[in-house]
Formats: sequence, structure tokens, C-alpha cells
Amino acid sequence: MSIEVKDLNHFYNKGTSLEKHALDDVNFVIDKGEFVLIGGEVGSGKSTLVRHFNGLLKPDSGSVKINDIDAGDKKVRSHLGLLMQNPQKQLFGRTVFEDISFGPSNFGSKGEALKKRVVDALDLVGLGPEYTEISPFSLSGGQMRLVALAGILAMEPEYLVLDEPTSGLDPENRYSLLSTLKGLHCSGLSVVVVSHQVDEILPLADKVILLKKGRLAFVGTPEEYLSSVSSPLPEITSFMKLLNQAGFDVRDNIYSVDDAFQEIVRSLKIVEVEQNE
Ligand SMILES: Nc1ncnc2c1ncn2[C@@H]1O[C@H](COP(=O)(O)OP(=O)(O)O)[C@@H](O)[C@H]1O
Ligand SMILES: [Mg+2]
Repeated sequence: MSIEVKDLNHFYNKGTSLEKHALDDVNFVIDKGEFVLIGGEVGSGKSTLVRHFNGLLKPDSGSVKINDIDAGDKKVRSHLGLLMQNPQKQLFGRTVFEDISFGPSNFGSKGEALKKRVVDALDLVGLGPEYTEISPFSLSGGQMRLVALAGILAMEPEYLVLDEPTSGLDPENRYSLLSTLKGLHCSGLSVVVVSHQVDEILPLADKVILLKKGRLAFVGTPEEYLSSVSSPLPEITSFMKLLNQAGFDVRDNIYSVDDAFQEIVRSLKIVEVEQNE
């Protein structure tokens, strides 16, 4: 069970003076159950890549398969949900209920079971049942994104793919979305997050895939990524390295504030015990 990208090439405006080779022989596998970060600068081909995952774009050559099914096949849509870069564009219903229920009702869900599915999906993104009768277009940008995400979760996908899900969110909404993703991953979903801000996703990821000018620049673990790529370190990692260099007994391979906190507390407790002896 996997997302398998093989020799993928994509051109925009092929054969014209505006031709752009947006994906150039890209190969990788995302295994079921992984939390994957797809990084790279703006314009490196990330959105073009993930739009191939559910058939929104077709390869010019090569292939994308989801659990061995060609990504262009409509069957894929019940396995993989894609939250696009501007999810507001994914909303269309008069009410939040209409929006979220659209997918499941197309797949035969109705009545009380459908209502429950909608309310459960809203709950997963931290919104209460009172949202069901509101127009999605009266919500804030952050809430619209959560409703679009709930619409995808209501389809109960195995793979959740999100394109720049935190862009434009304030710190509080950003934090709550990231903890939602962490929770979904813990409950068994495969999560793929596209982001040009590697720092905030890195602590959650099992695997990092990096694109550069349409080519695959790196595939590996977050640790391998940080030691092999000459990119700036996350601020929290730099901070821990500085503490370590100043003689404090803390690990310097730390990428999240939570881990840094635990590590500093651990180190302070050792000092306390030594002083009491
Ligand atoms: N619809 C389009 N038509 C022509 N060129 C496009 C189109 N969409 C993206 N591109 C170009 O393809 C490249 C990759 O874009 P994109 O996949 O959006 O990158 P990213 O998501 O990493 O920012 C960029 O150079 C971009 O300008
Ligand atoms: Mg993009």
C-alpha cells in the first residue's frame, strides 16, 4: 500500500514559447502510514506534483499510482483526499452541511448516518455541530480551510494530502491544525503535507521529500535532511546547539519546542540531583 511516483514528468504550455518543465523525472514512494513533508522553494513544483495524486493533472510521461491504482482513475478519490492550496475554492455549498455531506452522499451515505459523518468530521477539525447550518462563505479564511478539510475527512480517506495548509493562518490556528494532523496520523491516516516552511512540519515527519526546480533533490528522514542539506536549521535546533556548545548537557539533534522543553527539564533534573548529593 503506497503512493508510487515513477519517472514523472509534467510540462505546462508544452510546445509553445512558454513551455515549462515543471516536474523532471521525479521518483519516490510514500508508504501507507507515513507522515511525509514535501518541501521546496516557491515554484519548485510541489503543487504540480500533488495535483497528480488525485488525477487533477495528468503526467506527460511516467506514472502515479495510489495502492496500485492509476491516480487518474476515479476510484482513487475514495482512498486519497487533497486539500488544495486555496481551499476556499473547494467550497460551494449553501451551508457547511451541504459542503461536507456532498462527497459521502455521492458514495451512498444518507439520513442519520450521513449527519453523524458530517458532525464527526467537524469534530475532528475542532468545530462544533453548530457550524452545520452556517454558510461556509461567512466564515474566516482559517475556518473555511477547516471546513474544506472536514469535507475531505468525511470521505474517510487513507491518505490525506494538504498543500500549504498553514499559510495565512494565525499562530493559534496554525498550532491547532498541526495538532489535528498529528492526531489524525496517530489514528492511522497517512498524512502528506506540502510546505515551503519546513521548520513547522519537520518535527512531525517520518520522511522528507524535497523538490528543487522540478527535480527531486532529497528523500530521507528529518535527521538525514538536516545533516545533508545546507539549509538553515530550525531556530529551536540552533538554540539547542548553542546551549550544547556552551557546555550544557543537552542533545543538539532536537527539532521541536516540545522536545527541547523535555530535554532541558531532563538536564536540569540531573543537575539538581548532583547538587543534592
Ligand atoms: N497553470 C500553470 N501554467 C503555467 N505554469 C505554471 C502553472 N502552474 C504552475 N506553473 C509553473 O510551474 C512551476 C511549478 O509551480 P508549482 O507547482 O505551483 O510550484 P510550488 O507549488 O512549489 O510553488 C512554477 O515555475 C510555476 O510558475
Ligand atoms: Mg504551491
